[in-house]
Amino acid sequence: MEVIIQPNVEQAAELTARLIAARLRAKPDLVLGLATGRTMERVYDRLADTQRSGGLDFSRCRTFNLDEYIGIPAEDEHSYRYYMNHHLFSRVNIDLANTHVPDGMATNLRAEAARYERLIREAGGIDLQLLGIGEAGHIGFNEPLSALMSRTREKALTPVTRQQNAGMFGGDPDKVPKRALTMGVGTILEARELLLLATGAAKASILAKAVEGPITGMISASAIQLHPNCKVIIDSEAARKLKERDYYDWIFQNEPEWQQFRALTSGSTSP
Ligand code: F6R
Repeated sequence: MEVIIQPNVEQAAELTARLIAARLRAKPDLVLGLATGRTMERVYDRLADTQRSGGLDFSRCRTFNLDEYIGIPAEDEHSYRYYMNHHLFSRVNIDLANTHVPDGMATNLRAEAARYERLIREAGGIDLQLLGIGEAGHIGFNEPLSALMSRTREKALTPVTRQQNAGMFGGDPDKVPKRALTMGVGTILEARELLLLATGAAKASILAKAVEGPITGMISASAIQLHPNCKVIIDSEAARKLKERDYYDWIFQNEPEWQQFRALTSGSTSP
């Protein structure tokens, strides 16, 4: 794992978008795993800007989202399908037929979960999986006690998560659905590369536990420590509780793979 600390939220999102853009340029038919949430909005803004200025082509890209609320139709503004269409898909030249979000309205959720796993397999697996982290330590909606080998399935959301996401439901946690369909931790770990973005002081404590603490099903994000190709990009607020900051900074400043991205911190702005 590598942890890259950027001075602020804009630069953390910018670096994340640059990395995704670099992977897509290197492999135009990239299979891209996507996340929703407030943290990702800046990343999708940057990707849309880059595409609009001619610097990126999504026409052959295929996407798989991590999760979807159960019981919310795709056309409802609270669904993750709606979020993705709004924040990214309608703004870039992606073929909607190549975009996948679990169907939270499926009458048979087990069959839908199995179908989703099959689609990922048929696409050849996920090349790059984008992740956020919830205040309950989840990746996707893998709430505490998610098995580290879990697959796509139905999961009950914790009160912490429903409170965290209440902002999108008029501030009322009771309006946040109680259940979601989510890729499992095992599904996520099979992606060839993981890229987790976390910003803001509210994530500092859980991020430090996930990155520097023991691997535990109580904090599903800690499972990323098992992955051989995982990058964590954070802003300085989210980095506040990390112990090994100097080492992480040294990696970013010295390792050759980060060379093309270092210019960012000295003021460059296009992904
Ligand atoms: C959403 C998802 C979640 C979020 C996490 C952070 O698809 O997978 O794990 O990434 O809850 O959400 P924000 O960015 O809203 O803090």
